[in-house]
Amino acid sequence: MEESKSLFIVFEGLDGSGKSTQIDLLQARLEAHGMPCLVTAEPTELPTGRIIRDVIEHRLEAHPQAVAAMFAADRIQHLHEPETGILAELSKGNSVISSRYYFSSLAYQADCADIDWIASLNQRAKDLRPADITFFLDLDPEVSLARITTTREQVDLFENLEKLTVVRAAFKRAFKYWGDKREHIHVIDASKEVGEIAEEIWAIVKEVTSSQEHTRRYKEKE
Ligand code: TYD
Repeated sequence: MEESKSLFIVFEGLDGSGKSTQIDLLQARLEAHGMPCLVTAEPTELPTGRIIRDVIEHRLEAHPQAVAAMFAADRIQHLHEPETGILAELSKGNSVISSRYYFSSLAYQADCADIDWIASLNQRAKDLRPADITFFLDLDPEVSLARITTTREQVDLFENLEKLTVVRAAFKRAFKYWGDKREHIHVIDASKEVGEIAEEIWAIVKEVTSSQEHTRRYKEKE
């Protein structure tokens, strides 16, 4: 595998779809191939993300449209945070894996306002740094909810069967209407065995990396 280019990889999926397991496996694999890799997430641990967690976990109240704007603000900060932000890490030559990015807003906040407004809040992030690869870990909402309720004591604001069903459909719609080719969006069947999913993900990462290497070399020759 070519090792020169840093990658920005995003994992999307319902709560309980296995994002963190696959993110850890991919991080280990990239690092084993000489690609240092930062794992990060949205909402972030930054002040912008902490306010969102306070709302999600019912410590603060906010209008759903204000929450949509908070997620977009947190994302912009996540990109620009000095030293540790997505852009800073990529410019140091590190790869970045983020658990969630703007498609989560298009899916989870779709019911609170016109989808074009949610998209417009996120346009800047999409223009500035779209992901090189977006994996959607697709799972039946019943399975996802069962996983959440057995592993956690507190089931938060967005986690009930009806909501997860709507969110899954909204993700698929968002990929169709707002996704583009350079984001390399891949829907992965997250009901498969962990190792099998990891192999599928790794094969895609290798394929995208080698096609980018090819494009880069071609451009250098121009
Ligand atoms: P997260 O911590 O990723 O939850 P989990 O580990 O369960 O996947 O995200 C917390 C919640 O925030 C999750 O229910 C999804 C929601 N969310 C949005 O509603 N909009 C967004 O833009 C993002 C990034 C997350």
